[in-house]
Amino acid sequence: MSSFFVVSKQYEELARDEIISISKSYDGTSKITVLPRLVIVSSKVPWNIIANRATFARHAGMIAGTFDDVSKIDGIMPRPETFVCRTINLSSKSIGSSLERQAGAILAKKWGSKVSLSNPKVTVYLIITDSKNYLGYAESHVTPIHPKKLVKHPHEIDMKLARCMVNLSGLKEGNTLCDPFCGTGTILLQAESMGISSIGIDFDKIMCKITKKNLAGNKFDSRVINSGFEEIKNIMGEIDGIVTDLPYGISSRSSVSPKKLLQDFISVIPKRKKLVMVYKKGLEVDQISKAKKYEIYRHKSLTRVIAVS
Ligand SMILES: C[S@@+](CC[C@H](N)C(=O)[O-])C[C@H]1O[C@@H](n2cnc3c(N)ncnc32)[C@H](O)[C@@H]1O
Repeated sequence: MSSFFVVSKQYEELARDEIISISKSYDGTSKITVLPRLVIVSSKVPWNIIANRATFARHAGMIAGTFDDVSKIDGIMPRPETFVCRTINLSSKSIGSSLERQAGAILAKKWGSKVSLSNPKVTVYLIITDSKNYLGYAESHVTPIHPKKLVKHPHEIDMKLARCMVNLSGLKEGNTLCDPFCGTGTILLQAESMGISSIGIDFDKIMCKITKKNLAGNKFDSRVINSGFEEIKNIMGEIDGIVTDLPYGISSRSSVSPKKLLQDFISVIPKRKKLVMVYKKGLEVDQISKAKKYEIYRHKSLTRVIAVS
């Protein structure tokens, strides 16, 4: 069973690796083909399970086949009552709208189905790339449903990035994640919304209260511990991975520089534990020199780095 995921242009590498990580976490034998802005996954995982989690997937569905010439399109897919054709041009060529019309007419005749632009039962995708053209289809547009955030704070991480980081950890339902710098709980909220249990730690009592309110607002029950990050050593046996967003400056409650904090933090994490963290560019330390890194530009004085190890 093959599925496709068209990813956003903005964070293309991150988006692609997010889909690969989710697919492999459910089926280690998943075969992945990567093309510019397109990921094809051949695995036992239903496409909607991946699309439901993946933050940066713009379109997703099943692959019905490939085609060279639109007049000969044919693919294995259930006959829909109504459908619409949509071209996704990922190639360097320019493609006119006649392709959709041509494909629509051919498929309507073959299936005896009607084209419906306003309320189609199935969307048929004509995915054009420089190497191959894929015929895809989906009965619905599946996108992640983000949890609610009742209490916000200026230093919170954005919801999408938090979800993507949880996905890069390779954790899934039944696993437990820890965010030892949980702040308002964004990472915990995203983890629990995907069925991953989570434990948050923050040395600031007020942040712990905010996290608890945000969890309660979604009827989530992640544990929140008001303590320094070192507390993680006492719960290491309970957790499968760590996903966290490190402080960006020196907090009023600690005199430790962000770089020293990063070093101290990494020194308490066993090497075999999955670790996904985001920190301000420039804090790189030797212990994570081999980690896979993604840069996220925010503004001229802030570029963040997501490191996965
Ligand atoms: C960048 S913020 C995390 C923001 C969070 N991701 C969110 O979305 O709200 C870093 C958090 O680390 C906490 N913190 C700083 N030093 C700490 C330490 N030594 N141990 C535990 N928490 C600490 C701060 O109180 C702050 O809430």
